[in-house]
Amino acid sequence: MTDVAERLQELRDRGLQRRLRLIEGPQGPRVLLGGREVLLLCSNNYLGFADHPEVRDAAAEAALRWGAGAGASRLISGSMEPHRDLESRLAEFKGYESALLFGSGYLANTGTIAALAGRDEVVFSDQLNHASIVDGCRLSRAETFVYRHRDLEHLAWGLREAGGRGALIVTDGVFSMDGDLAPLTELLELARRHGCRLMVDEAHATGAIGPGGRGSVAAAGLSGEVDVVVGTLGKALGSYGAYVCAGAETVEFLVSAARPFVFSTALPPASAAAALAALELLHASPHRVERLQENAATLRGALVAEGLRASGSETQIVPLHVGDAERTMELCERVLERGVFAQGIRPPTVPEGSSRLRFTAMATHGAEELERAAEQVGAVAREMGIAASPATLAA
Ligand SMILES: Cc1ncc(COP(=O)(O)O)c(C=O)c1O
Repeated sequence: MTDVAERLQELRDRGLQRRLRLIEGPQGPRVLLGGREVLLLCSNNYLGFADHPEVRDAAAEAALRWGAGAGASRLISGSMEPHRDLESRLAEFKGYESALLFGSGYLANTGTIAALAGRDEVVFSDQLNHASIVDGCRLSRAETFVYRHRDLEHLAWGLREAGGRGALIVTDGVFSMDGDLAPLTELLELARRHGCRLMVDEAHATGAIGPGGRGSVAAAGLSGEVDVVVGTLGKALGSYGAYVCAGAETVEFLVSAARPFVFSTALPPASAAAALAALELLHASPHRVERLQENAATLRGALVAEGLRASGSETQIVPLHVGDAERTMELCERVLERGVFAQGIRPPTVPEGSSRLRFTAMATHGAEELERAAEQVGAVAREMGIAASPATLAA
């Protein structure tokens, strides 16, 4: 048996030990960290709903009316009106027959993939899919074919090789660490040609892109066509929990077959009510999505203007590639000293040698503070030899 202390030391030696940072107040565009206000550039609270007064009130009222917890799994005695109301609103919002709530996006992905792909079948998964998709593939006991990032030819080759055993193609809609988009139209065409389902994880797409923030599937005009859409309530919708949207029959199947749904306590009613309130706010104020997109463009432009390698993203997620894990964390700490909080991302979240600072814009940021933050990052990055100097840029 390997000693835990040894393994911990190994993580330290490789610059991969992680530690918690304590936020001393609600999640806003600026947060208190170590008694100091810093600009928050690594939250998924994209639309500012986690700290929105109406969303907070909805959670508080639901807790008073329905209690702190659901008390049991949905299939025992934990299915309550807030769950039903949110499921029908989510199905309508996404343009699907049915929706089903899960405890988190992690549970929704693992449970859905494992339920939809069985032994002797093949799941096709993009190389840069989120860890919860990777783990869902492992749990499914199906064979997994990992295709190169957004590489349709590689995927098509894998599908041909599988010879009809393909069960599912699964992809992030917006890739969580790079901010680029999956080629959904082409993926759906391949899925149809080879008799597979297509499943899209909208964790970073819902509330951020598409008409009224409906996500990447709606942006591609494929609502109701993509077989399974997964999303989280924990990011743009400001709450906690997750959902799967699909045809009524698929959802009926998941109710009996998705193990994290069957064997885990139902979402607290307050979380469901908060997400429902966020959906209503989104419906009433779609300009928040435009504001987020404008801020994302400002942030991307300002970082590039500083000579930083921050290109490739099309969304509010903007990676700044550093490569080495320890240098990434040094950059993170030094930028934080200047009042900008962007988290360093290291393996296994990203592939070896591709550590990065991952910036995320929010609709609640001001354009000027994003520009000032980029200047601070640029200054530190130049000191560390990560960014090109302005002279080189002008040349
Ligand atoms: C692409 C993606 N899918 C799923 C998840 C998991 O969602 P949740 O935080 O609700 O577990 C995340 C983030 O955590 C994610 O980035």
